[in-house]
Amino acid sequence: MQGSANLNVMIKAARKAGRSLIKDFGEVENLQVSAKGPGDFVSRADRRAEEIVREELTAARPNYGWLGEESAPVEGKDPTRRWVVDPLDGTTNFLHGMPHWAVTIALEHKGEIVSGVIHDPVKDETFWAEKGTGAWLDGKTRLRVSGRTSMIETVYATGLPFAGSKYLPATLRDLGRILPVCAGVRRWGSAALDLAYVAAGRYDGYWERGLHPWDIGAGILLVREAGGFAEPIREGQTLLEDGHVVAGSAAIFERFAKIIRTTD
Ligand code: IPD
Repeated sequence: MQGSANLNVMIKAARKAGRSLIKDFGEVENLQVSAKGPGDFVSRADRRAEEIVREELTAARPNYGWLGEESAPVEGKDPTRRWVVDPLDGTTNFLHGMPHWAVTIALEHKGEIVSGVIHDPVKDETFWAEKGTGAWLDGKTRLRVSGRTSMIETVYATGLPFAGSKYLPATLRDLGRILPVCAGVRRWGSAALDLAYVAAGRYDGYWERGLHPWDIGAGILLVREAGGFAEPIREGQTLLEDGHVVAGSAAIFERFAKIIRTTD
């Protein structure tokens, strides 16, 4: 499946940043044993990746705005379009030498995500979606959310709040409700890949509180284009602004979202 010109620019930028991160990831393992530790190095790798994405996107579309994790937002000459970018989603995994992290790029038009790319450089998987044309893996495999209907067979992903987060009590309550009725909950540490895996039918659902637009922009489009639902946990909110997301296959979404929404 061929994507639009914008999508091709996004895929190229994500893969180029991915190649830079892969080189740095090789170095991180050596740094684990050094006295200085890998923290500063990883921040530099993250910023380098953001620069690569930014150069590629800006060269192709100089008028678009920018919202990225590592730098200040920029309003473009075209105020209706902006890139929403996390150059390294799964920073903690990267820092600890764990091979599960991604580059994620979304394009927002008039407040709505219209294209999204999530590239996993380690597994060399590129997930993408465009509004109205479906969700794809490497442009070859059309993604569909899971069809499992029996709750006890379903598997979910979530994110566990960092130390000191105000979302810890709610997340623990969620876990207490969902664990007894499903086959398992995973915490793999990349919100973007969690959503891509829901789109691919690997997970049946995903929820997390306190996320940013760059963590979930591309992923929510992937889930929707793969036939699933991605909604704010608190109904009536705008998902990207709210940042509390519940997503899942059409087969279980209603039951799953009801469990998660009971907490609020
Ligand atoms: C984080 C990851 C993680 C999620 C956190 C995010 P970062 O993004 O997506 O899975 O639980 O809430 O902040 O910091 O690695 O870009």
